[in-house]
Amino acid sequence: MTTPLPRLDAADKAAGRARYLGDQPFDGLDGALVTSPIAAGLVLAVHREEALAVPGVVAVWGPGDLGDLAPLAHWAAGQSKTPLMDNAVRYAGQPVVLVLATSRRAAALGAARVRVEYQPLPARVDAAGLAAEAIEIKDWAPSSTRVGSVETGLAESGCQITGRYHTADRHHVALEPAGAIARWHGDHLEIETSTQWVYGVRAALAVVTGLPAEQIRVRAYLVGGGFGAKGSTWPHEILAVLAAGKTGRPVRIILPREQSFTAHGHQPATDQTVTLGATNDGHLTAIRHESVNRAAIDEDYVEHGSLGSRTMYACPNIETRDRILRLHRPQPTFMRAPHEGPGMVGLEIAMDELAVALGRDPVELRLLNYADADPTSGKPFSSKHLRECYQRGAGHFGWRQRDPRPGVMRDRGQLIGWGMASALMSTFRFGATARVTARRDGTLLVETAAHEIGTGVGTMLAIVVAESLGADPSKVEVRLGDSHLPEAGGTVGSATTMGVGSAARLAALGLKGRMEQLAGEPHLRFEEFGEVLKLRQLDHLAEEASWAPKREEGAFAMNAYGAVFVEVRIDPELPIPRVSRCVGAYSVGRIVNPVGARSQIIGGITWGIGQALLEDSRFDPTTGRFLAHGFGSYHIPVNADVPPIDVLFADEHDPHASALGARGVGEIGTIGVGAAIANAVWHATGRRVRILPILVEHLL
Ligand code: MOS
Repeated sequence: MTTPLPRLDAADKAAGRARYLGDQPFDGLDGALVTSPIAAGLVLAVHREEALAVPGVVAVWGPGDLGDLAPLAHWAAGQSKTPLMDNAVRYAGQPVVLVLATSRRAAALGAARVRVEYQPLPARVDAAGLAAEAIEIKDWAPSSTRVGSVETGLAESGCQITGRYHTADRHHVALEPAGAIARWHGDHLEIETSTQWVYGVRAALAVVTGLPAEQIRVRAYLVGGGFGAKGSTWPHEILAVLAAGKTGRPVRIILPREQSFTAHGHQPATDQTVTLGATNDGHLTAIRHESVNRAAIDEDYVEHGSLGSRTMYACPNIETRDRILRLHRPQPTFMRAPHEGPGMVGLEIAMDELAVALGRDPVELRLLNYADADPTSGKPFSSKHLRECYQRGAGHFGWRQRDPRPGVMRDRGQLIGWGMASALMSTFRFGATARVTARRDGTLLVETAAHEIGTGVGTMLAIVVAESLGADPSKVEVRLGDSHLPEAGGTVGSATTMGVGSAARLAALGLKGRMEQLAGEPHLRFEEFGEVLKLRQLDHLAEEASWAPKREEGAFAMNAYGAVFVEVRIDPELPIPRVSRCVGAYSVGRIVNPVGARSQIIGGITWGIGQALLEDSRFDPTTGRFLAHGFGSYHIPVNADVPPIDVLFADEHDPHASALGARGVGEIGTIGVGAAIANAVWHATGRRVRILPILVEHLL
């Protein structure tokens, strides 16, 4: 049962009425960050006189000026070094000075007038030639896995391919820049921040300030895109809090666009090597996938590029390894469809190469190697309707009409390429609590500390609560984004519908049960709630419930899946690939809101087009800087780059992933698109490009 409902926040956003953090009335000090132009070295001196002469500037603080600060090695922090804790420079873009002023403009002017003296030190910034220095890191996923023996599998194979693949450094570039406003009220701290995780920020700030978490309130308004960059606690949030403490005034720091490229993470470039072996009739005998990502110096972010290869195809011999290369570069972080987003580029281009080598159809090859159980753990899948996705996607696209020979299909002088790829994303699930309140006026309120980051969380909750009680979604008010509300995990990892959606359903059903108790009747309709409250002289009745993944569900492997089909058109004279058509079919469990889910997938595919054809953060190895500083120097897809997209969903109910039958839909759409486009470019031109984004120079 599903209720298609446009996003509750859509009209306000389209009309410009939606209010973000920077739109709130503010009376306090604005902060601006001075960032390091060098990648490694020491701050020797901060010359502040000219900055302090700017009218409105009240303070200029450099390393050490905010007191003795310890490194913030905390799970909710984006990096382990506290800003201004010492005079070491670890990457270009690191905040080294904070300027406070009575307006944003004065703060920015002051920041431009600060002169910082540096002692540069040798910087390790260029990944080239450093491959041998990549290291394995312990984090939430194993850095390497092995079943069977790839050497044995290759010996048994009749056909082998090995490819080296590269994905670029990419940036989240949310339309709303990150920002924070901090206020102290005695020994209580209040911070409003554009975050995907109010409870995470609260936990990290408790460590920074030494306050008990209960004395800290973190709120987020509508978040204008996060994509992972707002999923951790970052320097501007910490600096706003420390500066507000030191001045006794509210402090606001809103990052300028330029700093959004270095101040809160990016997706790190990956270098991947994939080896596949198969029998001559197309059965995989060996998969080896190694991935190395560029990380910051003294920091540990792993982009688990081989994650998908551990579970995607039935194969007796699979070896994977993910490593990092520590460099004097800005801190990377998770970005929409982390891990498999870059990682499936390698695996799925390699599968296309294998199909060509075997003379098999790419869809047929994937069906031939379909995994009915996780090939690494042996666990059954909670639910997997990927076979249906391949078949329906191919049918809808018209894949049967594809001439397998490259460079043959043409239309009005243009080369036509059809490519496809599998999509897979690991399912992350976080426990959550929600409160549902029935009011005497016949309305409902649902409250949980999830966040509206543009994904339609609020709308999903209204649907879930309404359908649990037989009410109309218009009766449901939603409150989110406040650490005073019942706890939820971060709005990250495509996990929110499962976590807070399930909790809201349980709370709504609990509320109905209590209402029936009060009424002394077994089957109360929602319309009767108001009567019961009146009868019992109650203004409202609230029920809270928690949901968490169950231990026994650990017996299942859980993934979101998809099959992506694209058509590209390429002018042979000026070979810039353009995507002209896309069909994606997805297995993601039950769809709670068809409108919202479809729009999440369209957004995800749009990201994939960016990854495949546009998003390439140029890094200057002589200065160690990202060259991008705005949308003029970092290109993301605009409407003209995005073709008609058809989205299909398998009719599915996952009994193990959540109380709603849903898995996650927020990120899977991004995955597979890059490889499908690269495969389509091969089909159009016969050129196998193993580097994303595919630029005109790769095809000339
Ligand atoms: Mo997403 S990268 O899990 O916010």
